[in-house]
Amino acid sequence: MAPVKVTKICCIGAGYVGGPTCAVIALKCPHITVNIVDLNQSRIDAWNSPDFALPIYEPGLVDVVRQARGRNLFFSTDVDKAILEADLIFVSVNTPTKKTGVGAGFAADLNYVELATRRIANVARSNKIVVEKSTVPCRTAESMRTILEANSKPNCRFDILSNPEFLAEGTAISDLFAPDRVLIGSLQTAEGVSACQSLSDVYANWVPKERILNVGLWSSELSKLAANAMLAQRISSVNALSAICEATGANIDEVSHAIGYDSRIGPKFLKASVGFGGSCFQKDILNLVYLSESLHLPEVAAYWRQVVEMNEYQKRRFSKRVVDTLFNTITGKRIAVLGFAFKADTGDTRESAAITLIKDFQSEKALVNVYDPQVTEDQIWLDLQEASPLVPLENIKKHVTISHSALEACKDAEAVVIATEWKEFKEIDWEAVYAGMNKPAFVFDGRLLVDADKLRKIGFKVTVIGRS
Ligand SMILES: NC(=O)c1ccc[n+]([C@@H]2O[C@H](COP(=O)([O-])OP(=O)(O)OC[C@H]3O[C@@H](n4cnc5c(N)ncnc54)[C@H](O)[C@@H]3O)[C@@H](O)[C@H]2O)c1
Repeated sequence: MAPVKVTKICCIGAGYVGGPTCAVIALKCPHITVNIVDLNQSRIDAWNSPDFALPIYEPGLVDVVRQARGRNLFFSTDVDKAILEADLIFVSVNTPTKKTGVGAGFAADLNYVELATRRIANVARSNKIVVEKSTVPCRTAESMRTILEANSKPNCRFDILSNPEFLAEGTAISDLFAPDRVLIGSLQTAEGVSACQSLSDVYANWVPKERILNVGLWSSELSKLAANAMLAQRISSVNALSAICEATGANIDEVSHAIGYDSRIGPKFLKASVGFGGSCFQKDILNLVYLSESLHLPEVAAYWRQVVEMNEYQKRRFSKRVVDTLFNTITGKRIAVLGFAFKADTGDTRESAAITLIKDFQSEKALVNVYDPQVTEDQIWLDLQEASPLVPLENIKKHVTISHSALEACKDAEAVVIATEWKEFKEIDWEAVYAGMNKPAFVFDGRLLVDADKLRKIGFKVTVIGRS
């Protein structure tokens, strides 16, 4: 069966994954028309904004969109038209953790995937290759196929592929330009293999062939959960060691450096921190926990659950260290929190450690000044309100203020807490920060970012993760 030559792509979901991924496909494949669609009008308006004020911050993204938008890259809310015209459809909608019902708190909420799939089935008038780009539990493709086949028009065939996205926020564009691998899962039937070839041919426009891996559907779906679980486990392992370092006088940076030399371990992803965040790690591990439990594998579920519990412990431990160090009370004390995004080079705040820290400081009745170079004020208020749904926003605003620079946030503070590893925090004028703070002036480095010795020479009392 000859593979279909893809000339029109539709991407349903213009978020952190659909937007950058399909913008890069458009850039690298000028012969393919790419329509990125979303139900969220304001998000689409931002993607189309004349001054490129895009809805997400990602280094290099504006350049990509500037080159391709209007040429062969289009953003729209007309989902049906894009489905009708496409040969290949990426489903790149959100799959958050379920909040209610069976599996609440663990299972993925597949409602958005199902709605998008039903839309495709209802609208399509010709054969389509439907690609799961969202991160989904193992065997979701089977449910998608059942929905598509039960609702499709006569002579309308659907081939389903899994093509999980491995980009990391903050480096999304360089990851997409030169991916470690592109994973495509398909049924091992003639039709499945042919559909897989069609998608492989799209990526082959810029990705070396040996980096495009073709596997079975279920392996592909599980590989995405597995990759995130292994990455998060590595962070939790280092963070668990950081607690031992603090208790023994060892230094976690030195330990990470030493173990990273072992070629079986490798040096990456060994940095201790206040805890991982982001929309994926926790959600995908909880998903794996749920899957393991559903498969009657309680020991496997407990093993992965511990990775998330260690992360919660690390955040709690850090907040407690702040309170303990500030003479066991932070009531009425002003604390500057530098960084609100879950990591540097993104404006994404989902599951950010900063949210938990600020909530902890609020419950101790501290006064918090927050500064982040990319996160909007509206987003900060939204997140803080969501973290404390029973506290009216006016009350939150009595204890939290948002500053427009790091220097302003630190003014008259007793302590500075570094929650995100933004490069600019390394480079701020720490002498000026010290001059403006109450004394003794404390710095709590939750990201191993600043030169603690240099800060101590200025006069700061510095507490660093993983050092006693
Ligand atoms: N963010 C990451 O770093 C990352 C990395 C790899 C994989 N993933 C996975 O990719 C998926 C998408 O993640 P994201 O961060 O882009 O989410 P997101 O919330 O930023 O974007 C999803 C978009 O889908 C839209 N949408 C939902 N239902 C729709 C429908 N029926 N029709 C049209 N649009 C619809 C929403 O309005 C939203 O804009 C998730 O499954 C996630 O786990 C995310």
